[in-house]
Amino acid sequence: IAGAVADEFKFGAYLVGGCVRDILRGEENLDIDIVIEGDAIAFAKKLGEEIGAKVTTHERFGTAQVIKKDFKLDIATARTEYYESPAALPKVEMSSIKKDLYRRDFTINTLAVKLNKKDFGLLIDFFGGQRDLKDKVIRVLHNLSFIEDPTRAFRAIRFSERFGFKLTRHTENLIRSAIRMNIFEKLSGTRLYDELMLTFDETNPVKALKRLGDYELLKVIHPKISFSPELESLLQSVHDTITWFELLFLNEKYDKGMLYIMALLYKLNKEEREVALNRLSVTSRLKNKILNGLNAAKNILRGLKPDNPIEIYHMLEGHDIEFILFSMALTNDSEKKKAISHFLVKLRGIRPELKGDDLKALGISPGPEYSRIFKKILDEKLINRLHTKDEEIEFVKKL
Ligand code: CTP
Repeated sequence: IAGAVADEFKFGAYLVGGCVRDILRGEENLDIDIVIEGDAIAFAKKLGEEIGAKVTTHERFGTAQVIKKDFKLDIATARTEYYESPAALPKVEMSSIKKDLYRRDFTINTLAVKLNKKDFGLLIDFFGGQRDLKDKVIRVLHNLSFIEDPTRAFRAIRFSERFGFKLTRHTENLIRSAIRMNIFEKLSGTRLYDELMLTFDETNPVKALKRLGDYELLKVIHPKISFSPELESLLQSVHDTITWFELLFLNEKYDKGMLYIMALLYKLNKEEREVALNRLSVTSRLKNKILNGLNAAKNILRGLKPDNPIEIYHMLEGHDIEFILFSMALTNDSEKKKAISHFLVKLRGIRPELKGDDLKALGISPGPEYSRIFKKILDEKLINRLHTKDEEIEFVKKL
């Protein structure tokens, strides 16, 4: 259908990017990108009409999204980007598919499939993408690639770890020379942060972070961060904790990236942590949260008495979930780990069944007394001495 709509406009239409790469690798990738030689927005609107899908447009970038149920197409106008200064965001102008593909990061991401009726399904490979997929290598298209966009160094390592591909010697040398040229200084905090978040989302972020460490790219966050065995084991522990947590609490919202950032900053002192968080341009809210969290985790572990559920509960209750998970990752004490997991799995869900109205019905007049009674009920429940509502009523009567 996309091909037919493009034909009506006499636009060239191509499937591009990660989705073509992953199809050829035999993997699924549901992020579908289409490049149009022509007006992507007009194309998207018409396509949306034809298939009854919602269309959102970004006039400034010449891009649109076509969304139907859980199916999403990103549509862009073919473009040549030029960079006003190194590491700045690109400026955009209309162009042909070849130029559009040439501005991309690595050869494996430059493959395209034609969607127009004539030549439908034709695989377009201007830059040797198929050969590099077969040889399992990550290769830049030209020498200025990392200078134009330093995030590509992080992307190179991310893809290399994800697919088990090697960087070509030349690509590796270009990263090293970009580092020598201090090109990463010009990379904005937001883009650096976003890139790190993508790295944390990989299946094996610890290996990817180790690789970043090998290239001294973690020093872009702060010059004192190096990938020591200690940092590696903390990051691995964060990863294991996250995997465990997500398996049990599939739908619970939390900031996974924050845990990895806390691990990366753990060995720094307070001033250095602040410098690093400023470098990442995080909001002051997140910055304070991370700084507090690093201290809270230490205090939690210091005060935690693993054999007393009441104390475990009151020690952990009210803390942000990220601090609790980070504490769990940080400690090597298996009893403390177990205590935190017991809190997350069981204790934190415990509540008195009685409500204010029930206390009123028992003849207790509303006031500060209520919260004392609720706390007493809660503590009894934490140590498994009260189970049912009737037991709670009996307990209150005896107080
Ligand atoms: N791209 C680039 N330089 C960047 C970011 C992206 O050249 N700094 C190009 C890549 O060629 C990529 C395309 O833009 O194919 C889309 O980017 P993105 O969605 O991040 O890439 P995917 O390859 O789809 O990555 P992922 O599999 O991680 O979603």
